[in-house]
Amino acid sequence: MISLRALPLLLLLLVTTALPGLAAPPDLEARIDALLGKMTLEEKLGQLQQLDGDADGTYRAEHPGMIQAGTLGSTLNVRGARRTNELQRIAMEKSRLKIPFLFAFDVIHGYRTIFPVPLGEASSWDPRAAELSARIAACEASAAGVRWTFAPMVDIARDPRWGRIVEGAGEDPYLGSVLAAARVRGFQGKDLSAPDAVAACAKHWVAYGAAMAGRDYNSTDVSERTLREIYFPPFQAALRAGCATVMSAFNDLNGVPTSGNPWTLTDVLRREWKWDGVVVSDYTAVAELIPHGLAADGAEAAAYALLAGVDVEMVSRLMAAHIPKLVKWGLVNEPAVDEAVRRVLRLKMRLGLFERPYTDESREASMILAKDHLTAARVIAGRSMVLLRNEGGVLPLSPERSVAVIGALADDPKAPLGSWIGDGRSEDTVTLLRGLREGTTARVTHAAGWDREGQVTPASLAQALEVARQAETVVIVAGEHQDMSGEASSRSSLDLPGDQARAIRSLKALGRPTVLVLMNGRPLTLGSLADEMPAILEIWYPGTEAGHALADVLFGQVNPSAKLPVTWPRNVGQIPLFYNQRNTGRPPGAEKYTSKYLDVPVTPQWPFGHGLSYTTFVLSDLRLSSATMDESETLTVTARVRNTGKRAGDEIVQLYLRDVAASVTRPVRELKGFQRVSLKPGEEKTVRFEIGREQLQFLDRSLKPVVEPGQFRVWVGQSSEGGLEGSFVVD
Ligand code: GLC
Repeated sequence: MISLRALPLLLLLLVTTALPGLAAPPDLEARIDALLGKMTLEEKLGQLQQLDGDADGTYRAEHPGMIQAGTLGSTLNVRGARRTNELQRIAMEKSRLKIPFLFAFDVIHGYRTIFPVPLGEASSWDPRAAELSARIAACEASAAGVRWTFAPMVDIARDPRWGRIVEGAGEDPYLGSVLAAARVRGFQGKDLSAPDAVAACAKHWVAYGAAMAGRDYNSTDVSERTLREIYFPPFQAALRAGCATVMSAFNDLNGVPTSGNPWTLTDVLRREWKWDGVVVSDYTAVAELIPHGLAADGAEAAAYALLAGVDVEMVSRLMAAHIPKLVKWGLVNEPAVDEAVRRVLRLKMRLGLFERPYTDESREASMILAKDHLTAARVIAGRSMVLLRNEGGVLPLSPERSVAVIGALADDPKAPLGSWIGDGRSEDTVTLLRGLREGTTARVTHAAGWDREGQVTPASLAQALEVARQAETVVIVAGEHQDMSGEASSRSSLDLPGDQARAIRSLKALGRPTVLVLMNGRPLTLGSLADEMPAILEIWYPGTEAGHALADVLFGQVNPSAKLPVTWPRNVGQIPLFYNQRNTGRPPGAEKYTSKYLDVPVTPQWPFGHGLSYTTFVLSDLRLSSATMDESETLTVTARVRNTGKRAGDEIVQLYLRDVAASVTRPVRELKGFQRVSLKPGEEKTVRFEIGREQLQFLDRSLKPVVEPGQFRVWVGQSSEGGLEGSFVVD
């Protein structure tokens, strides 16, 4: 029995086992100045050059020589304590200035112990879980020599056609901000110089998720208001949490590509937000300024990127190739180079690399796939699974009744890891089928029913139907394999791939109690299946412990508590569809001449914040501490939450506000808070939220934060629809 209570203990355990770190080196700036004064221009540009190692973690033949010559400052992908120490020894013993080398890697949702994909972890609405998984990932990655991760990805995503929606925390800036800060804390720990601290990287700066038509890498056209209200907040939260680096994105933003955009990279990040961290470009994004049509050639691209505010060029080599002559011709002044190098040296010093450049090779074996890590992965995966429907109490399943598991993904060891799996390996995965077999004494049979692309043949369907006929309950595992979402994996349709829907209907027609388990990287349009299937569980990609976590939930050891971090559409034509939309002058209604479609309701299949439990919760007794407030005061909102069912469970109670009339129209709802409440059967608790200036303010017409007098509506609810409603006036 996995105790859900494990989380706080695990977090405490990991934090206390964090190795003692060094205080930030004294006289940091003086040391940087002294070092900078000794560096040649070529060595300076070496610190700004990052190249990739092989996917298997090995370095490339040219890397040792470049490190010795001081023309390479960091790599991505190179990993393994022994291997990274090999290269570090070259930097520390053979190079002229002995500047430590920095190893980066995409540790997105785990290093070797793989946690649910970020969209799944976001479904937990649990910042402790997010912090814990990042802390564990940092412990494993740092033991392998990696001290910089390209995570958290904090891109707001309002378009599920965009494959990278799977890598983020969904559509809401508040939830996204809470989780971004939690993950930065987890990766970086309390002291960035500690050997198990990993520099985090908020990416992809900025509005990469606003790609037109959901097509990855496509142009974005976003008003400054929407940038500041929707896309900036998770980055601000990450930086406020101390995030050491930011990654500039691929996309063209309003005509100026983000990796050559001085407004976003310098004016906002550095001048307005006063942030002194390192900006690394995305992979060849500097060179891509040429196809974007911003730069005419490599020299222009290098100058645009450096002068806009990119410090480290990932993989392309234009800054190293062209900046020396641009400096010689007086087109780029060397102090601009110095500023970028200063930031890189500061990062390496804050990481403690000058004092402790090498990785303790004895840690790796004990850290990788440690039992506590796998336990945490199982607990967090269970918290990430969203119970979308459970008509007639089909779930939880009885452990005495035989189960037929249908679907190729059920026995696929790679799919549950999702995309960006770090050093994760399919041989570590507890497949869904294995987990279900280990979770019950009853017979568990399996038939693929369709291949990983969802293609059904008469024989495969016949076999699946026969296996299902022999069982008392049927668990259908359907969805997308892991390569149907993630980078460069946008889809124009959100339907279940292939013929899965037809096969699912045939299986349902057998009349057995049937559960639809969805493993996918984005909301899918299920059509009438959404109403035909009595039980639907969204598991996203749950990670290494997928099968154990699914069994815990299906057989009831874990009562699901997750909530959708994204709106779930009825069909792709509704996109973009998100809960915090404006009301329009003709809000959707029965009257013809209102804002709606002829062929589909304007409402989602399931709303942002939706998720069921095996028990039921009832909210009551909404109270406001006052009917009026001014912007300097705080208003307290309380409500009672009762567990009216027969099982203990957690409810995530959500607070939403609406500013009814303001000088700029405001969304019909905005998430302003949430609380997880654990209740035994019959137990009742009070949830309390504070409303103050932070919750009330918005950007006025000159984009300055303001609180305006007037009526506000407030909801305390179980999703972004319905809930207990009240109102108050700001005077
Ligand atoms: C990729 C991704 C980025 C990743 C980088 C390094 O193209 O856009 O998220 O961190 O390259 O792998």
